[in-house]
Amino acid sequence: MGFTRRAAMIGAIAATTAILPNWAVAQSNFPTKPITLIVPAAAGGPTDTVARLIAESMTKTLGQTVIVENVGGAGGTIGMGRVAKSAPDGYTIAVWHIAHATAPALYENLKYNVVQDFDHLGRITDVPMTLVSKESLPTKNLKELLHWIRTDKEKVTYGHAGIGSAAHLCMLILMNDLRVQLKGISYRGTGPAMNDLLGGQFDIMCDQTTNTTNQIKDGKIKGYAVTTKTKVNSVPNLPPLNTELKGFEVSAWHAMWAPKGLPKDVSAKLVAALQAALKDPKVVERFASLGTEPVDPKQVTPDALRTHLSIEVQRWGDVIKRAGVKGN
Ligand code: MLT
Repeated sequence: MGFTRRAAMIGAIAATTAILPNWAVAQSNFPTKPITLIVPAAAGGPTDTVARLIAESMTKTLGQTVIVENVGGAGGTIGMGRVAKSAPDGYTIAVWHIAHATAPALYENLKYNVVQDFDHLGRITDVPMTLVSKESLPTKNLKELLHWIRTDKEKVTYGHAGIGSAAHLCMLILMNDLRVQLKGISYRGTGPAMNDLLGGQFDIMCDQTTNTTNQIKDGKIKGYAVTTKTKVNSVPNLPPLNTELKGFEVSAWHAMWAPKGLPKDVSAKLVAALQAALKDPKVVERFASLGTEPVDPKQVTPDALRTHLSIEVQRWGDVIKRAGVKGN
């Protein structure tokens, strides 16, 4: 190649580079520095547990550290708001759950569009929930617990992870079915809520098996029921709630998102690393022991998550409007 032609090419590349934002340059080596994975809930809770397992596995696949940062509050909308505004370069991603789908119906002043302002990388889990109580509650089984809730409703307290959180949604449905209004105590995640339940500071909680399985097995809290149609392997002694409350069914799911506009190669690398994480024996084994079901890696795609999210936004939007609940 002659000098003039090469100089012209270099000039053209330099000109293109000059008008591109930083995040669009040099993507082919992605990732060249640590990735921040935002968890929009407190440390120690179910989302945090799922995210840290995935982050550890993705770190191995991508050759760069995936660092979890907990940004809890306002039902996860603070953390997801931060992700929506970040540069779409692959260095800021999020693991969040069903609350991403409930946010539009709950938060009138939401500053982002949950579908359009994100790149949807893939769904990670489906998670059953469990109805649990502090260990000192005298009720011995689901029937007795529901009877106590109905009769002592004035004094029953429940913990949740903010308006629209999975724990809150589950309790909304339960209260609706039992025709009671109980006093809710809000936390930045069910990690800290679980600490207070262990300390006996409130009575009951509906939380993901990821956070409750070990505590139930160790006898530190009481488990009464699972919220799925059928029993769950990690807590085989718990009956489905629908044995007492016909049609009761709710479960959580987690997924991975990034700000809208990732370069295609970056998105492909993140999706491939997420799919690999869901086949990682350590992740598979830990998820199984916590009753946390991994999504079939073949279904872990941006399109599948986008479709799933859109359906969930509609489904929960209707439930929330009927219940008349507001987040702000
Ligand atoms: C919830 O109920 O939304 C979750 O448990 C949040 C969390 O991961 O702490």
